[in-house]
Amino acid sequence: MSKILIKNIKGLVQYGEDMPIARVGRDMQYLPILENAYLAIEDNVIVAYGSMNEWEGITDWRNVEVIDADGKYVLPAFCDSHTHIVFAKSREEEFVDRIKGLTYEEIALKGGGILNSARRLAEKSEDELFEEALIRVRKVMATGTGAIEIKSGYGLSVEAELKMLRVIKRLKEALPIAVKATFLGAHAFPTEFKENHRGYIDLIINEMLPKIEEENLADYIDVFCERNYFSLEEMEEILIAGKKHGLIPKVHVNQFSVMGGIAKAIELGALSVDHLEEISDEDIDAIKHSECMPTLLPSCSHFISIPFGNARKLIEAGLPIALASDFNPGTTPTGNLQVVFSLACIKMKLTPEEAINALTLNAAYAMGINKTHGSISLGKSGNVIITNEISSIAYIPYAFGENHIERLIS
Ligand code: NIG
Ligand code: FE
Repeated sequence: MSKILIKNIKGLVQYGEDMPIARVGRDMQYLPILENAYLAIEDNVIVAYGSMNEWEGITDWRNVEVIDADGKYVLPAFCDSHTHIVFAKSREEEFVDRIKGLTYEEIALKGGGILNSARRLAEKSEDELFEEALIRVRKVMATGTGAIEIKSGYGLSVEAELKMLRVIKRLKEALPIAVKATFLGAHAFPTEFKENHRGYIDLIINEMLPKIEEENLADYIDVFCERNYFSLEEMEEILIAGKKHGLIPKVHVNQFSVMGGIAKAIELGALSVDHLEEISDEDIDAIKHSECMPTLLPSCSHFISIPFGNARKLIEAGLPIALASDFNPGTTPTGNLQVVFSLACIKMKLTPEEAINALTLNAAYAMGINKTHGSISLGKSGNVIITNEISSIAYIPYAFGENHIERLIS
């Protein structure tokens, strides 16, 4: 049995029992912090916490790792509910093209973007993809990520989509953190199906989905609903088919345009709607009457110079938001959620308290793990973050560009 005791914690963040499933609207401002605290973890489960003044000591010190967290904060690990961390190659040449004036959409229309990544992925073996993704996940863990959702979507053929999902399944087995798998076969139309959307959608529905169910390769289904990608009707058909195979929708919508994708995904039971750089009042209204988590991706906006999602508008409308990295080689080549934290505060005007709620409790909800993750509560996962010695929680997003995480317990 592994036992960890963290004592003299400067502030135990997001602690408590009877946590809400998410913090919503004005309540996102609320962030419980217990000063001068301790936390006990056994076999990766939180078994006790409280004030040092009430700490009764331990009787059996055998096999206990004691950590002195004097001057440091302890938080529930960040949950990254939206990533494309399995990929074959970086795309810095497109980055340079954007510096020279092309837009993300223009590069994609020339055969770059997702299709570029799909060509590279076809050339790599499952083992290579696995090893490289494992290194990436370990890197993001060092920056505070303690649960991660990973999408396919750079395969775009039966064989390559299954290869990606098998890599994700192996990551699930190999990693000491929670991993959720999302099938994103509908990320882009492969070149050979450019004029034959029906053909590719049939492939997704008739070839990919049955195999995914058979091998139990995914938890969620995603579609990139966007101009030049998948239309509203195409998304609907694919999500309905995915649901028949047990996959819950979790979708890319409103990145570049408002197409009604939010309301449609919600109608089909989406757990989250992600991106939302563009949003209409009708979209907000649809989310209001749902249990769907709007998820914003500020590092994507930053990296490809598109508008930031209007977090304030959503929160002021009484909605929750989650934040995620969108780690991928095209629009967000980092999975560091401390970067997301800073950008959310600086560019979206979230307070540090709101941002932490969006990265923990609400993010856990957005990936369907809120029963076990997102807060320091008895029985929940012992994946917690210990910060460096810092003056306050606001120092994390303030001193951007630095790693403030000393250790992720996992
Ligand atoms: O979430 N927008 C769709 N998918 C990714 C980008 C994929 C890529 O460019 O490789 C995103 O930003
Ligand atoms: Fe994405």
